[in-house]
Amino acid sequence: MSLCLEERRQRWLPDLRDGLLTVYGDTGLVDRVEALMAAAFKARRPELQLRDTQRLLRPDWFQRESEVGYAAYTELFAGTLDGISERIGYLNELGVSYLHLMPLLLPRPAPNDGGYAVADYDQVRPDLGTMADLEKLAGALHGAGISLTLDLVLNHVAREHRWAAAAREGDERYRRYFHVFDDREMPERYERSLPEVFPASSPGNFTFDEEAGGWVWTTFNSWQWDLNWSNPDVFMEFASIVLSFANRGVDCLRLDAIAFIWKRLGTDCQNQPEVHAITQALRAMTRIVAPATIFKAEAIVAPDIVTDYLGTGERAGKVSDLAYHNSLMVQAWSMLATRDARLAEKALSSMRPKATTTAWATYLRCHDDIGWAIDDRDAASLGLSGSAHRAFLADFYSGAFPGSFATGANFQSNPGTGDRRTSGSAASLAGLESALDEQRDQADVIWTVGLRLAVSRLLCAYAFVIGFGGLPIIYMGDELGLRNDYSYRGVEEHTNDNRWMHRPSMPWDRAALRNQAGTLEESVYSGLRSILAARKRLPSLHGAVESAVSAGSDPAILLVSRRHAAGDVMQVYNFSERDAWVAWGELGDPSDRVVEEISGVPSDHTGEGFVVSPYAYRWLTGLSLAP
Ligand code: GLC
Ligand code: GLC
Repeated sequence: MSLCLEERRQRWLPDLRDGLLTVYGDTGLVDRVEALMAAAFKARRPELQLRDTQRLLRPDWFQRESEVGYAAYTELFAGTLDGISERIGYLNELGVSYLHLMPLLLPRPAPNDGGYAVADYDQVRPDLGTMADLEKLAGALHGAGISLTLDLVLNHVAREHRWAAAAREGDERYRRYFHVFDDREMPERYERSLPEVFPASSPGNFTFDEEAGGWVWTTFNSWQWDLNWSNPDVFMEFASIVLSFANRGVDCLRLDAIAFIWKRLGTDCQNQPEVHAITQALRAMTRIVAPATIFKAEAIVAPDIVTDYLGTGERAGKVSDLAYHNSLMVQAWSMLATRDARLAEKALSSMRPKATTTAWATYLRCHDDIGWAIDDRDAASLGLSGSAHRAFLADFYSGAFPGSFATGANFQSNPGTGDRRTSGSAASLAGLESALDEQRDQADVIWTVGLRLAVSRLLCAYAFVIGFGGLPIIYMGDELGLRNDYSYRGVEEHTNDNRWMHRPSMPWDRAALRNQAGTLEESVYSGLRSILAARKRLPSLHGAVESAVSAGSDPAILLVSRRHAAGDVMQVYNFSERDAWVAWGELGDPSDRVVEEISGVPSDHTGEGFVVSPYAYRWLTGLSLAP
């Protein structure tokens, strides 16, 4: 085993060195990391070392068409960590192979941003279990073919974290872990170019702390203290946290708010080059000690720079393995609102290709709000105003726009910039909530035209994010079409954060209806399951492959093609509630046998083309694609 370690060290030490030297210069940090790696490797259990070998033999494991992700809050899905083990059967039934459990480390007392204000990285929330329970759960998931993802909150810690407490007590070593300024001069200079993440509930980026006697950098909430990553000690702390999670059996670390960790005067203090050098160093270290563990970047940034989080230029393939494809999600909702695929074609075609060893994490909804990341130039190329389109989307999905099918809410309206983001569950935004408004009894729905359309709309959008390629992540409850849950309004610490409307708890009584024909739950669940099952059969959905995206001659139609040596696929989506027409010539040359892979039904391709019914999605194989 140690022989193998030496091979890995030789393989990845240059990347580690390069990352560290770029950021920290020659400060002896490489030696400190080497010592840490040696200790962590010694502590690595044999079964995890075996996992390392297995993953090195199959380095594309997270890119494979067989991977299906699921994201859930432990407490809302299953109560406790032990409870999750009892729900493994449910996850298996859906085909899940990758589970992201939302923040579960000890946070500050509420409010704590849903756990994103960590007070202790060595302790699990006592109401969920212990570290031992977490390790046990990781083992149980692995046994069931499911990998485990946890959040690594590395931009900030809770004000209550012991580092912040020591800083307040005047300990110079810990004060240097943060950005604390004696007066307003520097904060004001930074503020000139800084945006606000939570303008409505937590305006500004600095908080005066009485005890610290200074202004503390707090990008998010006043009690989330940004860390000073220019301090090598901060790097060492997180290097150690990363390896300790890897040694507990965590397969993937979600790098929370990674875009924000490096600050530079005169910029928006996001996406700085040092962010990528730091990620490269952390990843190289992890490759050496625990190559079973990968990174996923949570960088909700403009479409033209998000690819950098998978590595571009000299860092291609050397930073995160996965990154959220925020733009894909935004375009899915934009197409549903406009019934037009042309902006999506423009936006998705202008993105830079990713490194072939990486993959997008694709999703339709998550625990966060939707920020309407529409690029002004993309919009302008279609004669649209970017800001007007963003405002339209916010209006549409809050339900304010006349005729909108959506039920959602504005999040963090910023009167200064005009920006508004949106909260709401996938089902409610897709129209299930308004279609069901008149109906009370969930088990016995009346299948109105509106309800059928809403279910098709939800499934069409999900088919698109699942078919796009990469690792699709289903957000808990979407598989049953769960609507907004307004009970957060009665919870004091949640009342001013309406993201809680799309963080429901799992209604297991309704989940029990998922295989009962005629129920709403069954219609969404079985639809999603057939899409996921088709995905697993199609090598062209491997994450390494790039999608080509274009609008049909009928602009309600989106075409997504993926080329693969094992066989291409051409996907056809109708993003409108009317029939649309597609000519075979738009797709390619039909062979003798064209199959729609989700239904498994051969397509008759003798005519000129075919009608695509409202919100229908078809994944066609057996075509020779136009060059
Ligand atoms: C990430 C999380 C979000 C949180 C923020 C601050 O963006 O997804 O929920 O508010 O980081 O930690
Ligand atoms: C969190 C916020 C989201 C913001 C993002 C930036 O996800 O909820 O609104 O855009 O952080 O990373």
